Amino acid sequence: MGTSISHFLITLAFIIITISTIARVSEAIGVNWGTMASHPLPPHNVVKLLKSNNINKVKLSDANPDVLQALSGSNIAVTVGVPNTMLKTFNSSKKAADTWIHDNVTRYVSNGGNVAKIAYVAVGDEPFLKSYGEQFQPFVVGAAMNIQASLKRANLDSKVKVVVPCSLDNFESGSNLSSSEVHFRPELNKTMFELVKFLDKNGSPFFVTISPFLTLLQAKNTSLDFSLFKETAKPHNFNRKSYKNSFDLSYDTVVTALSTAGFPSMEIVVAKIGWPTDGAANASSNLAETFMKGLMNHLHSNLGTPLRPRHPPQETYIFSLLDEDQRSIAAGNFERHWGLFTFDGQAKYHVDLGQGTKGLVDAQNVEYLSSKWCVVNNNKDLSNATVRALDACSDADCTALSPGGSCFNISWPNNISYAFNSYYQEHDQRAESCDFGGLGLITTVDPSMDNCSFPIEIRTSHAELFGVYNFQGMIFVIAILLVIV
Ligand SMILES: *[C@@H]1O[C@H](CO)[C@@H](O)[C@H](O)[C@H]1NC(C)=O
Ligand SMILES: *[C@@H]1O[C@H](CO)[C@@H](O)[C@H](O)[C@H]1NC(C)=O
Ligand SMILES: *[C@@H]1O[C@H](CO)[C@@H](O)[C@H](O)[C@H]1NC(C)=O
Ligand SMILES: *[C@@H]1O[C@H](CO)[C@@H](O)[C@H](O)[C@H]1NC(C)=O
Ligand SMILES: *[C@@H]1O[C@H](CO)[C@@H](O)[C@H](O)[C@H]1NC(C)=O
Ligand SMILES: *[C@@H]1O[C@H](CO)[C@@H](O)[C@H](O)[C@H]1NC(C)=O
Ligand SMILES: *[C@@H]1O[C@H](CO)[C@@H](O)[C@H](O)[C@H]1NC(C)=O
Ligand SMILES: *[C@@H]1O[C@H](CO)[C@@H](O)[C@H](O)[C@H]1NC(C)=O
Ligand SMILES: *[C@@H]1O[C@H](CO)[C@@H](O)[C@H](O)[C@H]1NC(C)=O
Ligand SMILES: *[C@@H]1O[C@H](CO)[C@@H](O)[C@H](O)[C@H]1NC(C)=O
Repeated sequence: MGTSISHFLITLAFIIITISTIARVSEAIGVNWGTMASHPLPPHNVVKLLKSNNINKVKLSDANPDVLQALSGSNIAVTVGVPNTMLKTFNSSKKAADTWIHDNVTRYVSNGGNVAKIAYVAVGDEPFLKSYGEQFQPFVVGAAMNIQASLKRANLDSKVKVVVPCSLDNFESGSNLSSSEVHFRPELNKTMFELVKFLDKNGSPFFVTISPFLTLLQAKNTSLDFSLFKETAKPHNFNRKSYKNSFDLSYDTVVTALSTAGFPSMEIVVAKIGWPTDGAANASSNLAETFMKGLMNHLHSNLGTPLRPRHPPQETYIFSLLDEDQRSIAAGNFERHWGLFTFDGQAKYHVDLGQGTKGLVDAQNVEYLSSKWCVVNNNKDLSNATVRALDACSDADCTALSPGGSCFNISWPNNISYAFNSYYQEHDQRAESCDFGGLGLITTVDPSMDNCSFPIEIRTSHAELFGVYNFQGMIFVIAILLVIV
């Protein structure tokens, strides 16, 4: 009897511990939701997608009113973002910071019941990136302080934390990772010290992007296995500790730099982490799935890292939720393919983000343009077709045609058709956007082949979203006219 009761209690304790661990981990996973797409999935579809996959944290790069409206009442915790281009204004004007907080935060947080749960304001989007030089650096901490003061005046500073997303290249060994000395880049040293002091004072965590994929691209002696959490990867040594994966090594680089700066226990949030699926070698759904499963197992295990054992990141935001066909490809053609889901909300692979073993749920009720594609007319003289295609690609998204991409080997002139179709879809299937000097031909037969998909766009464009504003504007004009009359 006694043994069976203690057995029962042990089992119960085990179940409770297991449940609380799972709950804690799924609580701690969020996604980045960006809208740099020619035809973004409508916000209400996206919010349904988040809810049906138990995703309860989302990080935005701005404070798009349609997106915040759709998130209101959803109980999803939101990070809103102040764009880098506004930092200068907010450094010099408390009033501008007040207005921004009022219009983009207070309005949603205190809106009588139907509220958006804003948890963080991210000041800038990796403003210290090396490639930006010093164009934003002088304004970041001043802007963060003014935003913090505005939140305090709005009585929101206990609910909403101010953070500044950073990247590994803010650290001296960011892309090298073989030396055990880690510090802030010399030209950033003063600013970063001010920043961490500011974060510490206000109880804000350190937001940082960790990207084993980019580390793999940059550090030539990091192996694919090491990046993908493979057991068989050759370990790296760093600070007399042995590292089995790229994530832990990058994370502890940040821990080391924060410790050197005098903040050894500052909480860290992984603001962006993911693996792209197209547009470059090693960017594929298979590898992305392996990476994401490795990452989730690692986070679920609660092991932490060698420098922070049993203390995994406070939160981790996957980069990203959806593919975005208008992201800058300055860093590489893979930039438009970071999504867990395609642009239209279809899961590319399956990974347990907290929804359990049932797999990711796709977006429902997505409305597409007609089943029409634009291809090259093979009966024409195609001697100028390549030039036409390059022209189309300077506007439309042709990144799948890049070496290593899903459409790299579809061969000429199918690759011309791919370019034409991409342009045609981006321009809402308007007949004149399939002209190409008479070389284009509209077809109802799907030209997709092998692993190369010729997509049809979603029936919502930025133009239509602006239509909503115009409608409001029209009502405003009518109201004014009525008043005048
Ligand atoms: C936020 O507030 C500012 C200031 O009122 C406004 O100009 C801006 O359009 C709002 N939205 C975003 C996404 O910044
Ligand atoms: C930032 O704002 C402060 C306070 O207005 C000002 O003194 C400082 O010069 C500004 N920094 C820059 C680089 O403009
Ligand atoms: C890595 O850092 C060490 C020490 O700072 C330096 O000697 C070495 O040249 C760096 N390696 C690369 C590939 O940048
Ligand atoms: C960075 O700044 C801190 C604080 O001002 C200072 O103690 C440290 O020596 C600086 N480090 C470097 C490498 O300049
Ligand atoms: C990477 O390069 C450094 C310096 O050349 C070397 O010490 C280290 O062992 C290398 N790591 C791997 C995994 O090859
Ligand atoms: C990336 O992919 C290519 C082609 O599949 C492969 O040859 C290369 O070794 C990979 N890069 C790394 C760093 O593993
Ligand atoms: C190809 O382009 C050139 C220059 O624009 C033009 O002169 C030529 O007629 C074009 N050829 C065909 C077959 O359209
Ligand atoms: C493209 O490459 C894959 C794998 O390398 C191969 O199986 C397939 O047959 C190729 N497709 C074409 C159209 O050449
Ligand atoms: C299509 O393939 C041909 C032959 O490989 C190449 O010359 C051309 O640049 C490609 N065009 C595009 C748009 O990728
Ligand atoms: C399609 O992609 C899968 C997974 O990357 C690959 O194994 C297969 O060979 C590809 N098939 C073709 C026909 O390209």
